Amino acid sequence: MLLSIRRLVNTCIINTFPLNLLPRKLFNLANFFIASKFERGSVDYLPISMDVEPTTACNFKCTMCAVSMPDFTAKNMNIETFKKAIDDNPQLLKIKLQGLGEVLTNKQFFDMVKYAKTKGIVCETTTNGSLLNSKNINLLRDSGMSRIMVSIDGATKSTFEEIRVQSNFKVVVDGARQLIKQCKKKFLRPQISAWCVLQNSNYHEIYEIFELCRDMGFDDLSYQIQLTSWGGQEYWLDANKSKQINFNAEQVQNDVEKLKSLARDKNFALHIYEGNALTFEKQCEWPFRTSHITADGSIVPCALISDPEVVTLGNINEESYSTIWQSKDYKEFRENIKNNKLDDYCKDCYLEYR
Ligand SMILES: C[S@@+](CC[C@H](N)C(=O)[O-])C[C@H]1O[C@@H](n2cnc3c(N)ncnc32)[C@H](O)[C@@H]1O
Ligand code: SF4
Repeated sequence: MLLSIRRLVNTCIINTFPLNLLPRKLFNLANFFIASKFERGSVDYLPISMDVEPTTACNFKCTMCAVSMPDFTAKNMNIETFKKAIDDNPQLLKIKLQGLGEVLTNKQFFDMVKYAKTKGIVCETTTNGSLLNSKNINLLRDSGMSRIMVSIDGATKSTFEEIRVQSNFKVVVDGARQLIKQCKKKFLRPQISAWCVLQNSNYHEIYEIFELCRDMGFDDLSYQIQLTSWGGQEYWLDANKSKQINFNAEQVQNDVEKLKSLARDKNFALHIYEGNALTFEKQCEWPFRTSHITADGSIVPCALISDPEVVTLGNINEESYSTIWQSKDYKEFRENIKNNKLDDYCKDCYLEYR
């Protein structure tokens, strides 16, 4: 509760919404709400939020991540592409600067945040925590971002480094502790969250990860249950299926209940995020609300696909964003979602196909 109030206050105060853009943002938001109350048909508004991928370059090779695929070629988004994405979308309320890759490896990352802030856009990001030196910590603290997530996939060196290949557990934990300490000196500061992708190889540390994140002073911890196969790519379907925990198993359900009660007792915010556990009744919302722009400017339907090689609906460097959002391909894609005529790259998210 306290966290939500602080987040709301911070979001409102940190983010000044330029007056000339405010009517446009509010008008678009109102249209979005009206459309979502009725049957989702013509989408005559633009997305209210977006994911923008600053880079696919990474200094880690996590076992479940698309960047670890053999022959993966890393790309950086340049600031011109980023500005085009933002300028085409004055209605945006929030962006998450995240995709594949480690955002802090892109030297223009903070220029991107700064630019988005001038357009009154709430910014969030996720980092692997490996580059949290004092310069980056100060820049993050003073960036005006609303939330910074740090990936904490283990509570011990061996588990963490087994999943996060090429990482150094101590560097990440020490860096995150410093980031939290520096941010907590300010009232108007980003929320600092821990994010853990639970899988077979770290499940045995589910309680230790909770304790570690609490001890480090994070504002909250999210456990993500589902591993994506990056648009149903055969390589990742095979590789990630074996890592996936069974959320419905009795032991897992018991642990989740115990953790929730522990979190209440210790007054620590815990979220259990089941991922895209979609069904034919509970359909995907992404194509009606948001988009994902990859480092090369491609528009892909969502972060769980991420890879423009799997599907792309256009490129921001070649067309205006609104042309792509209203294109025949995007409309057809939304119709398919509505009619449960799913393309293969969406099936991984639907329980009917698992
Ligand atoms: C792709 S990373 C990019 C940000 C940053 N490099 C990091 O690791 O936090 C964003 C998030 O996706 C998670 N992730 C990686 N592979 C995944 C998969 N196959 N399924 C679900 N989440 C995954 C990461 O653990 C991280 O929390
Ligand atoms: S640190 Fe993030 S982007 Fe890099 S390999 Fe791991 S999950 Fe992927």
